[in-house]
Amino acid sequence: MVTVTSPPRVHLPRKHEPRMVSWCPVTTACQASSAGAPLKGSTTLATSTPSIVEEYTRKRPRSAELHARASRVLPNGVTHDKRWLKPYPAYITEAHGGYKQDVDGNELIDFVMGHGALLLGHGHPAVTQAVARQVPVGSHLGGSHELEIEWAEAVARLMPSVEKVRFTSSGTEATQMAIRLARAHTSRPKLLKLHGHFHGWHDAVTKAQSPPYDGRSVPGVPKPVSDQTLSVPADIRAVEDALQRDPEIAALILEPSGAGYAAVPLPEGFLAAARELTSGHGALLLFDEVVTGFRWAPGGAQERFGIRPDLTMLAKILAGGLSGGAVAGPNTVMDLLEHTEDATRDADRRVVHQGTFNANPLSAAAGVACLRVVTNEAPGTIAHGLALRLRIGINKRLERLSVPGCAWGDSSICHVLLGDEVSNRTTRDLLRPDLPPEVLKTKGSNRRLAWLLGLAMSNEGVDLFAGSAIVSAAHTVQDIDRTLDAFERCVHRLQAEGEVRER
Ligand SMILES: Cc1ncc(COP(=O)(O)O)c(C=O)c1O
Repeated sequence: MVTVTSPPRVHLPRKHEPRMVSWCPVTTACQASSAGAPLKGSTTLATSTPSIVEEYTRKRPRSAELHARASRVLPNGVTHDKRWLKPYPAYITEAHGGYKQDVDGNELIDFVMGHGALLLGHGHPAVTQAVARQVPVGSHLGGSHELEIEWAEAVARLMPSVEKVRFTSSGTEATQMAIRLARAHTSRPKLLKLHGHFHGWHDAVTKAQSPPYDGRSVPGVPKPVSDQTLSVPADIRAVEDALQRDPEIAALILEPSGAGYAAVPLPEGFLAAARELTSGHGALLLFDEVVTGFRWAPGGAQERFGIRPDLTMLAKILAGGLSGGAVAGPNTVMDLLEHTEDATRDADRRVVHQGTFNANPLSAAAGVACLRVVTNEAPGTIAHGLALRLRIGINKRLERLSVPGCAWGDSSICHVLLGDEVSNRTTRDLLRPDLPPEVLKTKGSNRRLAWLLGLAMSNEGVDLFAGSAIVSAAHTVQDIDRTLDAFERCVHRLQAEGEVRER
């Protein structure tokens, strides 16, 4: 057994405090294909210069020890597929504002931001105080409580399509419940989803999450179950064909930002056409606003794009950084969850739903506090402005360095890819780079380069999330400018290691 002692504690910056950083870990989606690939760096650089991978491991001896220990009790030593990283992930000790710190004392600008849950940054005082007030009076009250009402009222006030809310413990549970409600409402069994759109990990939505989109079911999901989900490209004619061909489709589910929080944006006019088509075919339109909710606008993507879905799924920002989710919508659908005096109707039509931690008071307290800030302080607008600066800054630098690649995104998200030629890059705030959807979804066709960029950014003290920066209102202009400088150094480093060339 490896014994690990605590490193000296390093002061982390509080919210909005400008701060120089040294380092960080990066999770990328490319580890699988890069595992076992020969590392070129040590052969192309002078021996005195460590390769990107050597530098990563040299700065993280304690994370290496923890990972060895973790691998004995956790599959791959991690607890989420996206936290798996070669050679190993960094283990984090604490986080404040826009920063976090690992067990080796490396400070990192955090662009993972709780997988998108932390629009306000780590430890926002309104949220931590609300949770601290609730902890001593009960983490589970075994009954109804006022905070859950306040929480649902805030959601209904903010989200244009919402009258009633049912809380769950996660986004995955929210999409599962929304699909069940759609099936019960329409008395139809099938679900239509779009290639690359992610809706959690339950059986109905695992199909076509990532390329290749060849209709296969994933291990552990029986084919008859997987066959109930149909998947088409984000092309409105494909949606129309599917709805026309199959009268058993209960609902179309989608990320209203496009796949992977705007990594693969939807074509112009897609949402409005999808609204019309689903209504015309008696199917429901389900907006998965787990990421976009309260971020794209206070009322989510539905407010921003002016389209009302039949059901909305929420999580992440909803619960202010604690666990929680919700399915929400108009009474006409949500009432299927209600008990009535009619026993026959209830037996035949009512949708059952339990969940020990639904609307638990700690998540409710954090959620109410967070949504109050969303309502009063427009944190999404602050984060959006910072992400815009990051996207434009990366594209300018790539242009200046004459290196293929680009940054793109929407709202407070910045996606980055290197190595692919992008013909429309001169538009500095790229909504959609001119590249195939599969390349956008995987953030570049060169998986090894994406992986090394992630490690190199870690080495520069910037923690990306699978090739993307999820920007919060706790980040600062200085954080963005430091990230841009870090990015430029990484590009030089990758050039020096022979991994990326000038155009
Ligand atoms: C769009 C989208 N839907 C659903 C989910 C699943 O949410 P959770 O991880 O809370 O189960 C996620 C998670 O990242 C997501 O991004």
